[in-house]
Amino acid sequence: MSLDVEILGALRKAGAGSISGAELSQALKVSRAAIWARIQELRDLGFDIEASPHHGYRLLSSPDLLLADDLLARLGAGLTIGRDIRVFQETTSTNDIVEKLARDGVKEGVAVFAESQTKGRGRLGRTWVSPNRKGLWFSLLLRPQLRPQEATRLTVCSAIALRRAIANLTGISPEIKWPNDILIHGKKTAGILTELQAELDQVRYLVLGMGVNVNQTASDFTPELAKVATSLRVESRHAIGRPELAVAILRELNSDYERLKAGRFSEIADEWESFCTTLGHQIVLRTGGREIRGRAEALNEDGSLLLRTEHGRLEPVIGGDVTLVK
Ligand code: BTN
Repeated sequence: MSLDVEILGALRKAGAGSISGAELSQALKVSRAAIWARIQELRDLGFDIEASPHHGYRLLSSPDLLLADDLLARLGAGLTIGRDIRVFQETTSTNDIVEKLARDGVKEGVAVFAESQTKGRGRLGRTWVSPNRKGLWFSLLLRPQLRPQEATRLTVCSAIALRRAIANLTGISPEIKWPNDILIHGKKTAGILTELQAELDQVRYLVLGMGVNVNQTASDFTPELAKVATSLRVESRHAIGRPELAVAILRELNSDYERLKAGRFSEIADEWESFCTTLGHQIVLRTGGREIRGRAEALNEDGSLLLRTEHGRLEPVIGGDVTLVK
């Protein structure tokens, strides 16, 4: 753990109180001068840290920047997801970075964030617009014991974790549109891109890429995008702390991943079903050049959608683009 993570952790633990230089130096086994030097560096990064000769150090506010040390300090130890956090100011796509880490044998749980992406991608070959410091653009590496056809379970897990974190932090209750869109008032706020490497019978690794529109204002969206997309700031009418949201999402993801590994997918599926606006509707699903019409009935055991087709057959589908038939 870096010294900054430990200092920020101790300052946060002190809450509205202070912690003295002597206490910090004793707890972290470094000199008071070293603590002072790090406090200066943290101030340069935008942390407002009060230093009083009588009481010591007190954290007054943190910047709305994604800083690996800050995210690690907020998250605390002991979680799988977010055990290793890396932040890029700019990259092509965080999924590309995680894919490379996966091939290099990095442990599962690493989370890669970027302040902006130059080639952010969405599902079905779409572009994902990722403007600087306006959202959360990040990817996770997982190595679950799943068969490839069960990988959709992780997308389902991610959707409810994202939904719950957003609901807890903003008080808004987003809906889920199958397979993985998080909508507020019918407009897309977040999406998930799952990419995987697998043998015939076993997933080797999975890259879960998540994009959350957080602090864009209405004028940040092109007129075209504004018809279908929104941000948490637009919907809640105030700016949202991105580090707080990032940490809330990682915590929820970790607990849902634990539930999944403990064989409790049915609980996850129930929660997903209760917020999914696609279920119970007649839909048109476009997938792999075909168009299937039917009624979205339920979520299957493996995470696929069960569609009652026009011919009365129940067909499991794992991907595609859904339009509700009005
Ligand atoms: C979708 O709804 O189409 C999925 C969007 C996923 C976007 C995220 S942003 C972080 C990660 N990197 C990417 O290039 N895409 C995902």
